[in-house]
Amino acid sequence: MSASKSETNSASKTYRSETRLVHAGTLRSQFGEMSEGLFLTQGYIYPSAEECESRFSGKTPGYVYSRYSNPTIAMLEQRMASLEGAETARATATGMAAVTTALMGQLKAGDHIVAAKALFGSCRWVIEDWLGRFGVTSTLVNGTNLDEWKNAVQKNTKVFFMETPTNPTLEVYDIAAVADIAHNAGATLTVDNVFATALYQSPLSLGADCVVYSATKHIDGQGRVLGGVILGSEKFIQDNVHQLIRQTGPSLSPFNAWILLKGLETLSVRVQRQTDTAAAVSVALHGHKKLTRLIYPGRPDHPQAEIVHKQMKAGSTLVSFELKGGKEGAFRFLNGLKLIGITNNLGDAKSLITHPTTTTHQRLTPEQRAELGIGDGLVRLSCGLEHPDDVVEDLLTALDAV
Ligand SMILES: Cc1ncc(COP(=O)(O)O)c(C=O)c1O
Repeated sequence: MSASKSETNSASKTYRSETRLVHAGTLRSQFGEMSEGLFLTQGYIYPSAEECESRFSGKTPGYVYSRYSNPTIAMLEQRMASLEGAETARATATGMAAVTTALMGQLKAGDHIVAAKALFGSCRWVIEDWLGRFGVTSTLVNGTNLDEWKNAVQKNTKVFFMETPTNPTLEVYDIAAVADIAHNAGATLTVDNVFATALYQSPLSLGADCVVYSATKHIDGQGRVLGGVILGSEKFIQDNVHQLIRQTGPSLSPFNAWILLKGLETLSVRVQRQTDTAAAVSVALHGHKKLTRLIYPGRPDHPQAEIVHKQMKAGSTLVSFELKGGKEGAFRFLNGLKLIGITNNLGDAKSLITHPTTTTHQRLTPEQRAELGIGDGLVRLSCGLEHPDDVVEDLLTALDAV
């Protein structure tokens, strides 16, 4: 199966992101299917033993085995690469498979990694606990402080890692400045771009070497499948990622790749609408007497508003806020919500709310959470596609009851 003339044109970088989200990477079989084909196949039949030998040796291009090559997964990878402005991409079974593969592929025993402290709980576990078992040491820094990034560098530092905006306090880090520090130290920078999405932030164009996604979030955006994506230059992916996926198999199912391709088609309209709702929520709740603080990257009072302005096209689909009364106040508020679902997930068509202290960041000590600004009253709201007024009304009604 190869790209036809119209498909090659539709993958062109001259189209805007919204158009590429619908068309880029599309491959059509001889049947001329309108929607992307779903190739639920583990392997491939070769026309001859000679062709089989040639494909295995890499002399002839073509699919070999779905652990590392499949037409449906290839379409997703090409569409993501086009959206991100990356030379290439590899899809994985989950966002955590993407993070773990991207990091382990770059590191070996004796190396050192520098990461921001404010990370999704599982990412922090991989860096602090798991990589340590393989002789990789780590230093965690306050991501907003460039001196801390600089001072953390050691002779054996190979990788810098950050997510921005962060989960759940929506801190924003200066990707270009941190990429410079990493490169001056002979290291690379990997950015988890889940909260911003490729529509609002392009880490590769700001100097990052690798971008990772949990496609489970906005890319699916409808609560159906898990998935992950790793993006970078052809050289970066070949040197660090391709063999690790091929030989160890953290691979995405073609079925899930197909769902994610369909998710990408609507990504821009969903993210735009969800961002509008998040902005409306931030206006409606700002200064509310039951809250001690509200964090939204689209607001001028955001602590890193200047960096947001410099590196992001828009705010976020998420708003975090802290209730008076700690965990008890937060729980009373959460239990008073009628429309918004209590969960640990985000980026969905349904508005979702999370209490990080008892879920995503439960593993951290109270002191570690305090250092990150994750108080017992903090909640993280992921805005969905409902009418913004209904979301705001649900929040205000539940706040009244606290
Ligand atoms: C910032 C961030 N990175 C990575 C992940 C992991 O993604 P997945 O759940 O698809 O493994 C998550 C999940 O919540 C996340 O929020």
